[in-house]
Amino acid sequence: MAFHITGTGSALPQRSVTNDELSSFLDTSDEWIAARTGIRERRICTTETLDELAIAACRRALDAAGITSADIDLIVCSTTSGDHLMPAEACAIAEGLGVDCPAFDVSAACAGFVFALDIADGFFVRGRSQRALIVSAEKMSRILDWSDRATCVLFGDGAAACVVEAGGESPLAINLACKPNLTALAVPGIAGTSPFDETRDGDDARSAGATAQACALTMKGQQVFKFGVTTICDAVNGLCEQAGIEVSAIDHFIFHQANERIIKYAAKKLNRPLDFFQVSIGDTGNSSAASVPMALADAYASGRIKQGDKVILTAFGGGFTSGAVLFEA
Ligand code: ACO
Repeated sequence: MAFHITGTGSALPQRSVTNDELSSFLDTSDEWIAARTGIRERRICTTETLDELAIAACRRALDAAGITSADIDLIVCSTTSGDHLMPAEACAIAEGLGVDCPAFDVSAACAGFVFALDIADGFFVRGRSQRALIVSAEKMSRILDWSDRATCVLFGDGAAACVVEAGGESPLAINLACKPNLTALAVPGIAGTSPFDETRDGDDARSAGATAQACALTMKGQQVFKFGVTTICDAVNGLCEQAGIEVSAIDHFIFHQANERIIKYAAKKLNRPLDFFQVSIGDTGNSSAASVPMALADAYASGRIKQGDKVILTAFGGGFTSGAVLFEA
């Protein structure tokens, strides 16, 4: 196992939607949303396609790494809300960057970025790639029920990318998992018109002419909250044990930005001051798979992460999938 991250970048839609704006058409308030989640505003696509955001994030990551798209020999994108089910989002990125290399998507919900990193690591180990673009891009606004205050206030759109190169000492430890749960967080498949399909039932997403609500994301919030906190803490302790270091040796904790309360709760359980934790959710909302690389890009852009620092990324999401990695910057 050997890779290092040499450049990061992110891209957000122009349009910011505040909690107050949501309150104008939902029975909610800035007070409720901010207190329960830490979110004050989120970015939502209006004219931007997800392809455009993903490509913009990749260009920024390439610039930060000081290389061009011609140097890239692998593109792995994680998304659950791509502009097209087929071709893969990664193919649109390859086309936008003018790159001719293996390009494909992975689907592991919010944990997708860490899964994609591990896949790239496998390519490096087998000598199949030297320099990869690992991208996460989400247009969550597309898959939300905008009349459901319990879910639509939580999410935002965005994309982020990393240039990852073979070589170096990282990752010091990595862990991927799935504790199968198909109902706590779910988005149904596309509607079909097969005359042979006998499983369709009334207004569900599999019926032709299903309502937008029937096709949208559903979530059991408290179940996800508990899974998130437990998973984060177990992941951090497990990675440190694998690497043979103390949790107190970690310089930066960059967790899935699902809810500020989850991050604060985990910080308390891990007995580390909040200063060590990246909190970016306030003005972006939860951008699913893109949230960890967006927070990582923010941490690099602000100069917080220095060479040699030990960083832990953890993410959890629908499935219930989870992924965590400990690396040296
Ligand atoms: N505004 C006002 N009231 C609301 C809102 C809202 N936006 N949403 C729900 N409520 C109400 C509910 O209807 C309920 O009312 P009731 O008591 O009259 O029935 C009340 O608030 C309490 O609802 P709960 O669901 O119990 O609220 P909770 O304290 O659990 O907070 C939250 C909800 C913020 C969703 C929390 O459970 C959470 O953060 N869970 C984790 C979510 C998460 O991480 N999701 C994504 C992870 S994976 C991925 O990214 C795809």
